Amino acid sequence: MTVSAPGKLMLFGEHAVVYGYPCIVTAISQRLEVSLSDTDNVPGDRRFVDAAIQAWGDGKDIKLSAKCAFSGCYGFGSSSAVTVATLKALRPEAPDRTLFDTAYKIILEIQGVGSGFDVASAVFGGTLYYIKNKAIEPLAVKDVPLVVGYTGIKSNTVDLIKMVAKKREEYPEKLERICKAIGKIVDEAKTRMIEGDWERVGKLMDFNQEYLRDLGVSSEKLETLIGAAKSAGAYGAKLSGAGGGDCMIALASAEKRQSVEEAITKAGGEVVHVTPNAEEVRVEA
Ligand code: MEV
Repeated sequence: MTVSAPGKLMLFGEHAVVYGYPCIVTAISQRLEVSLSDTDNVPGDRRFVDAAIQAWGDGKDIKLSAKCAFSGCYGFGSSSAVTVATLKALRPEAPDRTLFDTAYKIILEIQGVGSGFDVASAVFGGTLYYIKNKAIEPLAVKDVPLVVGYTGIKSNTVDLIKMVAKKREEYPEKLERICKAIGKIVDEAKTRMIEGDWERVGKLMDFNQEYLRDLGVSSEKLETLIGAAKSAGAYGAKLSGAGGGDCMIALASAEKRQSVEEAITKAGGEVVHVTPNAEEVRVEA
């Protein structure tokens, strides 16, 4: 049995989603594969796989191998993808909702924090409007003209979530105001993305980035790549995910794509080619 699950990219609403505001996430073409096999081969952090086997392995001695088409550095969500893929391999018939609940519980037990948006993306695929414990809504979007640039810096999601939480304790009103404003941007982005109004969606990315800057989760390298993409004619750009490093994203028309990609590379970023709106977790064989 081989199962694959997609990686993900946060398009709008990171951090605010932890506090009950909406976000938009898209599943990407780069996938993580898990196979039940005779030999055990799990590169990197085993905790998620072990917890999944503990949950749905019925006490059997289960061996499996995991293979990832993307580097764990990009922030594409390898922990959630491997958890979802392992659970699906153990119980392919389980309903999506049960799969989501079980995987999210495992992630929370191991990481202690997280909104679950990445788990939802791996389970349901496509592009989702997500509110923690409230909404997992597929969005009918087509041909998102996305450009992705990796900073070369691995960010620590848990630390960044905790940093924002600490700020929220110190300045609760300010943080609430920022998260609320991000939530409004996400709600408009949802409509504009379905309409395919990429120029406006780009503007909304810029607005979202301003608030992420205020939260203190952007970085010099992210700002450099974002600035380069915008100078080269992108509709808009922002960081994607926890911040600190990982990837930035931009939207660019077909005419501008190449110059935006070149600008990101020239500014010291690595362009990662991904296709958004990818399929959910699936049994391959
Ligand atoms: C990290 O990719 C996105 C955050 O919003 C954390 C989460 O939602 O779990 C910062």
